[in-house]
Amino acid sequence: MSGFDKDWLGLREPIDQAARSPMLISKLSRHLTAVKGPPALLDIGCGTGSTWRSLHEALPEDIDWRLLDYDPELLAEAERQIGAQQRVKFHRHDLNDIDGLPLQGVAVVTASAFFDLCSESFCRRFVARLRDVRCGLYAALTYDGHMQWSEPHPLDRTVVEDFNLHQRSDKGLGAALGPDATAMLRSLFGETGFRVEVAESPWLMGQGHAPMQEAFLRGFVRPLTEIGWLSTAEIEEWLSYRIDAIAKPGSSCVVGHLDLIALPD
Ligand SMILES: C[S@@+](CC[C@H](N)C(=O)[O-])C[C@H]1O[C@@H](n2cnc3c(N)ncnc32)[C@H](O)[C@@H]1O
Repeated sequence: MSGFDKDWLGLREPIDQAARSPMLISKLSRHLTAVKGPPALLDIGCGTGSTWRSLHEALPEDIDWRLLDYDPELLAEAERQIGAQQRVKFHRHDLNDIDGLPLQGVAVVTASAFFDLCSESFCRRFVARLRDVRCGLYAALTYDGHMQWSEPHPLDRTVVEDFNLHQRSDKGLGAALGPDATAMLRSLFGETGFRVEVAESPWLMGQGHAPMQEAFLRGFVRPLTEIGWLSTAEIEEWLSYRIDAIAKPGSSCVVGHLDLIALPD
């Protein structure tokens, strides 16, 4: 329903896990340890539960997790993968309804690979809501617009520009901020007086990540075609060069992401 495929989310999960900033996870853990009473976390756009799998062992044990998504198939897959856990509850909810979010008792909202899908107006309303209830945000793995391959191709620059342009189209939450999302969140939380920190969390992919690299590259075809600057022949030529290059000894691909944490005093 959301267009995010569970197999794609499964492929990216280990690369996401390796990319997350350990420093920001430690800050989140220290904050939750200091919170009075057993804290709750709300993971928005939870998909199949990657944030929970990546964080729960690094955070205090007594956390109640609320995992929220609007896609029933992804939520069902999250329930299947996580299994029966006393401290994990699942919520089907569309994030366009910010007022209806289950925020009672939530110390920090978490999100991974989500905020680049959001518009400025969504971020403004969302940050204002968190400010009003003094709830923090941990927003990891937001795409930052940078990609680099060790084996260059003459079309790389145009491809990344077109991809970034497509990232700004509406994904259901207004015209998306794409690579500008973290800067927008940083600025909005700066106005609230929350303490904000940002750290780099790039995907580092080598030959060992060939299936993920190939799936990632094939995912360019639709956005590049929709933007329409490159011809089908150019897209095919670039894609076939890139897929062949994955197997070259020492070849690598870096995709820039940023993690952000914003905490009330
Ligand atoms: C890129 S996926 C990330 C999933 C997961 N956080 C991860 O890191 O694997 C984005 C998620 O946001 C969810 N999503 C997008 N728009 C949403 C909306 N309006 N309301 C609720 N969930 C939404 C999608 O269903 C999808 O699960």
